[in-house]
Amino acid sequence: MVDGKPFLMLAGELRNSSSSSSEFLKPIWPRMAAMHLNTVLSAVQWETFEPQEGKFDFAFVDSQIQGAQTHNLRLVFLWFGSWKNGVSSYIPAWVKTNQERFPRVQDKEGKGIETLSTLSAANRDADARAFAALMRHIKEVDTYRTVVMIQVENEVGVLGDSRDRCEAANQAFAGPVPKELMDYLGSRKDSLHPLLRKAWEAAGSKTSGTWEEVFGKAPYTDELFMAWNYAGYMNRVAAAGKAEYALPMYVNTWCSMPAPDRGPGTYPSGGPEPQVQNIWKAAAPAIDIRSPDLYSPNFPVWVNWYRESYAPDDPLFIPETDGTTGAYHVFYALGQHDAMGFTPFAIDELGLTPPSPTATEPADLPIAKSYATLTQLAPVILENQGKGKMAGVVVVEGEPSQKIALGNYVLEARYPPNRMPPAPGSTPPVPVAPAHSGALFIALGPDEYLAAGSGPVEVTFAPNTPGAPIAGIVSIDEGTYVDGRWVPGRRLNGDENGQGKFLRIGGGRSRNGSIQRVKLYRYR
Ligand code: DGJ
Repeated sequence: MVDGKPFLMLAGELRNSSSSSSEFLKPIWPRMAAMHLNTVLSAVQWETFEPQEGKFDFAFVDSQIQGAQTHNLRLVFLWFGSWKNGVSSYIPAWVKTNQERFPRVQDKEGKGIETLSTLSAANRDADARAFAALMRHIKEVDTYRTVVMIQVENEVGVLGDSRDRCEAANQAFAGPVPKELMDYLGSRKDSLHPLLRKAWEAAGSKTSGTWEEVFGKAPYTDELFMAWNYAGYMNRVAAAGKAEYALPMYVNTWCSMPAPDRGPGTYPSGGPEPQVQNIWKAAAPAIDIRSPDLYSPNFPVWVNWYRESYAPDDPLFIPETDGTTGAYHVFYALGQHDAMGFTPFAIDELGLTPPSPTATEPADLPIAKSYATLTQLAPVILENQGKGKMAGVVVVEGEPSQKIALGNYVLEARYPPNRMPPAPGSTPPVPVAPAHSGALFIALGPDEYLAAGSGPVEVTFAPNTPGAPIAGIVSIDEGTYVDGRWVPGRRLNGDENGQGKFLRIGGGRSRNGSIQRVKLYRYR
């Protein structure tokens, strides 16, 4: 909700350090607006914000708010405090150079790594003080509520070892699992993550004991321990900020599916991974949403894996993803999972690399075209969220079609097959990666659907309720939404839809539009 109204966040995240210079940002703002973003995710780095202890630099925060506001954009600030990608690279020099006061994680060999330890009240309190100052300032200056949400830290967890082995960590690890955690887990036995339940049961379902007594001696126990400590630390930081200004706050996850060959520490151990979700929920009530950074090609599989643990408590927010594949994945995330927002990373560089002579105009980028479509559709999407009336799909060239039951029909979607194979004897085409498309569907009524996407996607329909067995197409209109009102364009009933056989979103010789409405009927 933004300004009392539902808000669909069509966002992009700037590169990590872009926001540390307002000059650097100047040409970026209009580019973001031209790409049809409504929100920019941008960092506030602790080192830039508090260069000397207790002395805050608000200028670069203010210029971001002003730059975004001038271009009618909202902001989500990323608090790069104690950690960014597991490491403490953005901490101020006065913290970095004072290891006595601000202790580090120690690894198996007793060596320090450049990561602040969660087991230090000094680390936590210094971070919380700075974060509170930031939130207080935003509340004071952001009269038009440009800043709508906050990411607390970035992709946290210990890298290089499964847990912190500094003295305080070793002591806590050898001590009892905190009673409040045991009570929390005990009261939710039916909703524990399967790995947690298995580890606990295998160790004898004890209700007290050390971490290894309760959960067994395994890297997973180290991960549970680190999750408790990261979540507890970040809860204190978030709560200190919320005490000043209670914007929604989320954390992002460097996602790694558990695999036998890759244990915690090869990915940040203790971050909000699904397998430690119960610990995060127990220890960090001040965090509103846990969310996945998703760069892997099989986007739907990863989204489903993350959602299995965190839905329905957490809405889906994609805080980072790839800018190119994002053009079609966004339709899947919004349609299939009611996502509240979507964010390609390094959006300020998209289309600029390779170097500028070949730079793509921002509005011509595929993600910009998708966002242009979704800007029109936002009111309809928001109206239908959470009602089971939407679906989304990603289709891949050469792969089988996918069936989606939605309303009174089953929709069968596929990447349109190539109907013109190369002529016999012609040079075989150089193999290229199969193309992908994405689409979302909204059941507008018993026999009517809205379809939109980054095509091409071809869809056929079959009845899903008793009655006449064949679905026919009465009409397909392409069109636009203007202020939430449907404005039809061409009526498509020839080659564009195979003479009434299918609905085709995008592409094709007839340049089918990206938004269409189809009316169906049934016959025998
Ligand atoms: C994930 C991190 O959260 C980002 O800050 C950035 O480092 C990207 N990875 C780079 O791909």
